[in-house]
Amino acid sequence: MKLNFNIIFCLLTFSVWMTSCFSPSDIVIADFDGDNYGAWKIEGNAFGTAPAPGNLPGQQNVQGYTGKGLANSFHEGENSIGTLTSPEFTIERDYINFLIGGGKNIDMYMELLVEGKSVVKSTSPIETETLAPFTWNVKEHIGRKAVIRIVDNRRGGWEYILIDRIVQSNKPETDILVDYKLTFQADQKYILIQIEENASETRVTVLIEGVQEAPHSDIRIAQTKIDYWVPLKIEKYKGKEVTLVLDQTRESYTGLSRIKTSDTFDFNYNEKFRPEFHFSPQYGWTNDPNDMVYHNGTYHLFYQHNPYGSMWGNMSWGHATTTDLKNWKHEPVGIVPDSIGTIFSGSVVIDQKNTAGFGKGAMVAIYTAHGQAQTQCLAYSTDGGITFTKYENNPVLTDPAYIDFRDPKVFWHQASNQWIMSLATTQVITFYGSPDLKSWTRLSDFGTGIGNHNGVWECPDLFPLTYNGQTKWVLLVSINPGGPNGGSATQYFIGNFDGKEFKADPLPYPLWIDYGRDNYAGVTWDSAPDNRRIFIGWMSNWDYTNQVPTLNFRNGMTVPRELTLASNGNHIVLASNPVKEIDDFRSTSHEFGSFEVTRTYRIKNILENNRAAYEIEMTLRPTAHTGSFSFTLENQKSEQVVFLFDLAGGTLTVDRDQSGLKAFNEKFATGSIEAPLTKKEAYIIRLLVDRSSTELFVNNGEVVQTNCVFPDIPYHSLVFDVQDGTLNVENMIVHEIK
Ligand code: FRU
Repeated sequence: MKLNFNIIFCLLTFSVWMTSCFSPSDIVIADFDGDNYGAWKIEGNAFGTAPAPGNLPGQQNVQGYTGKGLANSFHEGENSIGTLTSPEFTIERDYINFLIGGGKNIDMYMELLVEGKSVVKSTSPIETETLAPFTWNVKEHIGRKAVIRIVDNRRGGWEYILIDRIVQSNKPETDILVDYKLTFQADQKYILIQIEENASETRVTVLIEGVQEAPHSDIRIAQTKIDYWVPLKIEKYKGKEVTLVLDQTRESYTGLSRIKTSDTFDFNYNEKFRPEFHFSPQYGWTNDPNDMVYHNGTYHLFYQHNPYGSMWGNMSWGHATTTDLKNWKHEPVGIVPDSIGTIFSGSVVIDQKNTAGFGKGAMVAIYTAHGQAQTQCLAYSTDGGITFTKYENNPVLTDPAYIDFRDPKVFWHQASNQWIMSLATTQVITFYGSPDLKSWTRLSDFGTGIGNHNGVWECPDLFPLTYNGQTKWVLLVSINPGGPNGGSATQYFIGNFDGKEFKADPLPYPLWIDYGRDNYAGVTWDSAPDNRRIFIGWMSNWDYTNQVPTLNFRNGMTVPRELTLASNGNHIVLASNPVKEIDDFRSTSHEFGSFEVTRTYRIKNILENNRAAYEIEMTLRPTAHTGSFSFTLENQKSEQVVFLFDLAGGTLTVDRDQSGLKAFNEKFATGSIEAPLTKKEAYIIRLLVDRSSTELFVNNGEVVQTNCVFPDIPYHSLVFDVQDGTLNVENMIVHEIK
């Protein structure tokens, strides 16, 4: 009996020993549950003097921490910075598990320093007030001395970090992989990466033979499903070793094991909503056109571009060229991010006199670098825009007083013999002058107390036009939000510019270049032939642009438009019309002649072979007592876009509420899109339809409405409705555009 008892005692002791030997208990580094930070060193004011008991005043509900408190850098709001440093400890387990939350920004992180050297840094994988587990694999550092630093080095929205329960353990709490490396031999053209649009961004750094050549990119690597693929071009590294370093990922993510090299990149270029005769990027994202320049018979279009996804991010300048303003050639990406920042909007000029010293006739790009601050930088090309070299003394214009300091549009002003830059500086446009594109002098500000100020001013453009034999200056200013129908839109001012100041004529501002929802950030081509002022706008709206239902690419540009000054009967307006070159792409034309509409008139089939790329031309002449009339584009699924002329109310509205897909964003279909309409005897109509866009030009572009639509099948009927009286439709013609 005694013996048995002893055996049981021995067995128990052995099993306790076994447990502690093979599954030793965790070592707590910090649980932040006390009244102070103990031996942790506090710097700055972000972390206060003691752990937070949850959320701090003014902060959303913080959850997911354990015990009584956590390290929270929201002390004194989001505008504080600071660091918490642990006492030194020895790494004794394979993993360090902890809970992390807060903003997802490179300047807010937890870092492990082993023997004084930083070995891993982690930020919250998403922006969240709910802390989630995170694991560092520290096997290779066992036995070494280390400290942990929790850093908040940034002020502003979402700029705080939340940390709790830091524990050494032999069990990882998650399958998170930090600084995960994938190495390839560059013997093919691309590394293909799978994207899931709703996945959070992974920071991907590319190493060539172990050396980083460019800043990281943020890529939505597929986690649970693959939406589409993007190519990383590696042809120029042929024969070398290319490594992708993913800052944090999970072993279980779908896309991780499928990243591969390939000589081909197959994707569905012809997806349903891809425009036929408008510019759209070959793949990936676009927003603003980034000034366009005409050079030796070619129109260059640079554009805000994400080459690694169909949502905004990794801002670079994409590049395309055309000689006919309709067929675009996709060129290699023009300007890519560097250590100063990502590449925001700007402009390009031809430096005929070599004022900057980059070469006579060099193409010089002036753009905003978006980094810690927004600054203006130069890059130049001497091979016709194919490759750009960044100017070594960038940036050329800075002003720490401004957060929004961007979108330089530059032109040579003959009369004052200098370059003029228009720059959006929060809610005014600031003009600068320069003899050489490198040194800039502030000349004046325009905009206080005039026009619309319900958002940030962006993307200015100042240029002359002739009106009744007189030179007038036009200033375009995009604004977001604040558009006449919500979200982003472009207003304009007409006046005079003397080389220093722009003064606006008294007109009923705000005036909008386009009252539709989808024409933003447009600017004009520099040096276009025959003194033409050709404009192109981004055909989307910041309200919903990241969700529009395309996949391999997202967004395109308006049709190129020629700008002129005209009178709308009441006052001078900036009119826009499709460039004449578009007429050359009319293939077959179907004439419907002239007819009278009383109540309803339906044309069942506007085109024989309807590829959803066409133009409708007609003149609409209401009788004296017609209060309102409309025409509606419609398909067999009863999807429709209604264009309503309310003569009594003086408005022209477009209603796309039943136009097709709309659930992707609640701001897309929100009722009538309204433009002012002056009463006229007749309305000359041009309506351009291209798969997912409608562009309506009334009376030679006096009133314009550009609106995107996503119908399931092409609209093929045109239905006229008249409330009272009659409407004479004259010379209706439908041109197929190819
Ligand atoms: C306008 C804009 C610009 C900026 C760019 C960034 O749409 O916000 O002001 O330069 O987009 O992509």
